[in-house]
Amino acid sequence: MKILLIEDEKITRVTLRDTLKKKGHTVTACETGKEGLEKIEESKYDLILTDLRLPTMSGIDILKRVKERDPATFVIVMTAYGTIQNAVEALKLGAYDYLTKPFSYDELFILLEKIHDYNAILKENIQLKKALSKTRTIIGTSNEIKMVLETVDTVADGDYTVLIYGETGTGKELITNELHKRSSRKDKPLVKINCAALSETLLESELFGHEKGAYTGAVKTRKGRFELADGGTIFLDEVDDIPLSMQVKLLHVLQEREFERVGGTTTISVDVRVIAAAKTDLGQKIEEGSFRSDLYYRLNVVPIHLPPLREHKEDILLLVEHFIRIHDMRGKIESISPDCVEELMRYDWPGNIRELENSIQQMIALSKNETLDISDIPQKIKTRSSSAFELRQWKDPNEESVSLENSLQKFEQKMLTWALKKTSKNKSQAAKILQLSRSTFRSKLMKYGLEDDELS
Ligand SMILES: Nc1ncnc2c1ncn2[C@@H]1O[C@H](COP(=O)(O)OP(=O)(O)OP(=O)(O)O)[C@@H](O)[C@H]1O
Ligand SMILES: [Mg+2]
Repeated sequence: MKILLIEDEKITRVTLRDTLKKKGHTVTACETGKEGLEKIEESKYDLILTDLRLPTMSGIDILKRVKERDPATFVIVMTAYGTIQNAVEALKLGAYDYLTKPFSYDELFILLEKIHDYNAILKENIQLKKALSKTRTIIGTSNEIKMVLETVDTVADGDYTVLIYGETGTGKELITNELHKRSSRKDKPLVKINCAALSETLLESELFGHEKGAYTGAVKTRKGRFELADGGTIFLDEVDDIPLSMQVKLLHVLQEREFERVGGTTTISVDVRVIAAAKTDLGQKIEEGSFRSDLYYRLNVVPIHLPPLREHKEDILLLVEHFIRIHDMRGKIESISPDCVEELMRYDWPGNIRELENSIQQMIALSKNETLDISDIPQKIKTRSSSAFELRQWKDPNEESVSLENSLQKFEQKMLTWALKKTSKNKSQAAKILQLSRSTFRSKLMKYGLEDDELS
């Protein structure tokens, strides 16, 4: 590890430094807090080992500065006997641990080993996250997704402006990432902005930046997202919510690729590719007068329509398998039961693929077995899927009328079969869970010819 040692007592400093070096660490030793801070500014250390009581600047001050700079740096403070209170304060401020002088080297080595292991886990996590981001591919073999992928293939490596339509959670951001990753701009920034989340003035300053003093609070000149995206791609999310007055300004940038910062007079030119996303039908907004048609034509060069998940349910199984692969880090889940998939396919997923992903994550976390089963599905989804399912089952949407009597009988028959199946054909128990007397239950079984063993 790369260690910075700050200790004013010469003998302690030199012996500690040499012992740590012998253990294979790279050690920089300094005498004062001031010197220590200079070293911290110059270079990054895995661990700062500092005395609490130093001549000019205390170990607490050093700790504060270190944590401000990089909260992930480990700090161990050394304290003299009788000043435990200070050590506790240090822990509150984010120190990893403290050592009371005089301490044995073994105590120190144990701490160092812990930090070493902890660091290894952190590094592994970062690598896992990287691997995860690589596996974030677009999944789906339905015709709907195939069409999307074809368009992505065709237009990714071009400077075309793309307008992605889709309900919430359908993958608009995922497609944007893919388009950028596969373009010649991939090594330049992909800058994202959610146009709906900001007030009009904030949005303008976010998009185009502002000059110092442009308005109260503008204490420094700041670059806007268009400038930051120079050479790369800008993603204008929820573009359908841009106020009309801002639409004119945006149109101007799209036409000229130049603008002025808020409060500025210099014209700034940029080279950016624009990708926008909308959740609503912009055609309708144009009719209502809340979206400019000239801006629409500028944005809608290549439209990509992302289907809601309920329109490509055949992709659910593949998506579920994909989400298990990327979220089941510990490899707990081995399979998913067919019943469970069927139930997931009955639900209409108003939150689309994001809702499916969240549900699968929740199911993985809570499941007690290696097979995801119907019982693992969040209740909200089960309830809604079954009510939608039942209606479809009892009423053909093409039929003008439906016999209530017949439907009730069909339902009764279903309930009887369900109860028998649930109790492994134990009739007394089945009668009990349907809150019927044994004789009524029997007569109903007879009515529907369910007395024999052909129950399925
Ligand atoms: N076809 C797909 N294959 C795999 N994962 C997908 C797919 N579509 C979406 N996802 C995943 O679903 C989640 C939601 O997608 P994303 O954030 O891109 O949706 P969005 O349309 O931008 O949603 P919102 O409108 O709410 O911002 C993400 O984790 C994304 O990786
Ligand atoms: Mg999004």
